[in-house]
Amino acid sequence: MARLEILEYPDPNLRLTSEPVTRFDKNLERLVNNLVETLDANSIIGLSSPQVNVPQRVAVTNPSGGASEPQVYVNPVIISKSTWGIVEESCASIPDVVGNVIRATKVHVRAQDRHGDAFERVLTDMDAVCIQHEIDHLNGKLFIDRLSFFRKLALRSRLRAKVRRHNNAA
Ligand code: NI
Repeated sequence: MARLEILEYPDPNLRLTSEPVTRFDKNLERLVNNLVETLDANSIIGLSSPQVNVPQRVAVTNPSGGASEPQVYVNPVIISKSTWGIVEESCASIPDVVGNVIRATKVHVRAQDRHGDAFERVLTDMDAVCIQHEIDHLNGKLFIDRLSFFRKLALRSRLRAKVRRHNNAA
């Protein structure tokens, strides 16, 4: 297993739409294991494959931290959402930025496990918020896109500094 580097905003690869997984082979197994190791190593609650520069529809979550096993979602789809709320989010790809996002706090998800077996699950609270945030990543969307106009305005200089740093490093 290997700990993978996490892409940071504004890396353009974070904006790609990830491809569905069609082959449940050794490569996928390796990717899933590396995502889990990277999730644990960074003490974060969710990580998607495009964040480690592999644009495939895979995400791992562990909203309760080390208290439970990381959950693996391959090709996740939200079938239904309910019970909306405002939650404070952050993202390993956008360090030092937090903001409130409107999310469903109850979702019905369909996905496949690492072997390709389909499952459905009803998620609530942080589990629900986390999978929505990760599915956004699979669609090239970041939580900062969902912030209010005023929050975006407040974060503008901080985000611009990240763009400058990225451009200087490139
Ligand atoms: Ni994120």
